[in-house]
Amino acid sequence: EKVVLAYSGGLDTSVIVRWLQDTYGCEVVTFTADIGQGEEVEPARAKAEALGVKEIYIDDLREEYVRDFVFPMFRANAIYEGEYLLGTSIARPLIAKRLIEIANETGADAISHGATGKGNDQVRFELGAYALKPGIQVIAPWREWDLNSREKLMQYCEQHKIPVDFSSTKKKSPYSMDANLLHISYEGGILEDPWAEAEEDMWRWSVSPEAAPEEPTYITIGFEKGDPVSIDGERLSPATLLEKLNKLGGANGIGRLDIVENRYVGMKSRGCYETPGGTILMKAHRAIESITLDREVAHMKDSLMPRYADLVYNGYWWSPERRMLQAAIDESQEVVNGEVRLKLYKGSVSAVGRRSVDSLFDERIATFEDDAGAYNQKDAEGFIKLNALRLRIAAGKGRKLI
Ligand code: ARG
Ligand code: SIN
Repeated sequence: EKVVLAYSGGLDTSVIVRWLQDTYGCEVVTFTADIGQGEEVEPARAKAEALGVKEIYIDDLREEYVRDFVFPMFRANAIYEGEYLLGTSIARPLIAKRLIEIANETGADAISHGATGKGNDQVRFELGAYALKPGIQVIAPWREWDLNSREKLMQYCEQHKIPVDFSSTKKKSPYSMDANLLHISYEGGILEDPWAEAEEDMWRWSVSPEAAPEEPTYITIGFEKGDPVSIDGERLSPATLLEKLNKLGGANGIGRLDIVENRYVGMKSRGCYETPGGTILMKAHRAIESITLDREVAHMKDSLMPRYADLVYNGYWWSPERRMLQAAIDESQEVVNGEVRLKLYKGSVSAVGRRSVDSLFDERIATFEDDAGAYNQKDAEGFIKLNALRLRIAAGKGRKLI
């Protein structure tokens, strides 16, 4: 009857609008979000109107995205398969949430999206939608229609007189891209050969490390309760802060990644990612945690991190187990306050200084100089001997070690 579509204003989702109207005879509500993809969202209004859409939602979700999704995930230091900073994965639960809110507001009984039937995004949108509204219907055109090439989509446009702006589709990148404030992802095209290196002009946000300035850039990031709140002493809103880190990182060639990853549906896929601000933030957050977190808390966080990353990657943001982990992680961040000084240089980011009123670092104890009795070296003898007890017993009984 009525369906809310996640609408970008591009060719694919414009075809979906008409296809939904024709195939299901339903009224389409479009939803277009600015999550920092760097494209105007307002043009989507005229495009949707031209397709006969009456209810058009255009939202600026940038602050909510960074504050309620990106930052909570960074508190966990989440990284998928050792490398991927989850830039697309973390945007999906927000889109799912907004689709359902709009369905509730407009009395729609279905949602629709332009993700293919082969990827992760369909899973993320739909798991989110079902979790937030169990009775919702989902229409995934890519799993139903046979418009499986750009040619066929263009033909469909011509046949159905869909007013798309073909000039903008002509200079379209040869890659399947997805962008938001955290990253740009590139898939498809020549990247489908895992041996082929990406062309230099694919990258949109960063200069190559080779072309980055010869002089390093130093910045200081301030943290409160595990979230970054300032750069060089200037307090910034979450979205503004991440945007600024993207600029600084991009200018220094930071945050490029080229990987083959395992999709949840079972296939391997090659992707390139550009995450300048996120790469800086990860380094900075770990550095502030390094002086403020208790060792066992830090190690337990690290042991949970891959589970948390899997949940985000696989689309389980709106799950009880993600909430449970988040509660534990957030509890640990109460003391994660202070400042980290970073050096950005030719593709690398290093923490070169860290300080905090909540620091557990004790110079008196750690010093190589005279500690004036702060630490009794004699205590180490018993510590080591008791830890060695079972090793000595086993050796005494002739257990093989080599
Ligand atoms: N492979 C990445 C992920 O699963 C990026 C997906 C990109 N999505 C897109 N619609 N282009 O998170
Ligand atoms: C898609 O299939 O629509 C993009 C790739 C992915 O979701 O993994």
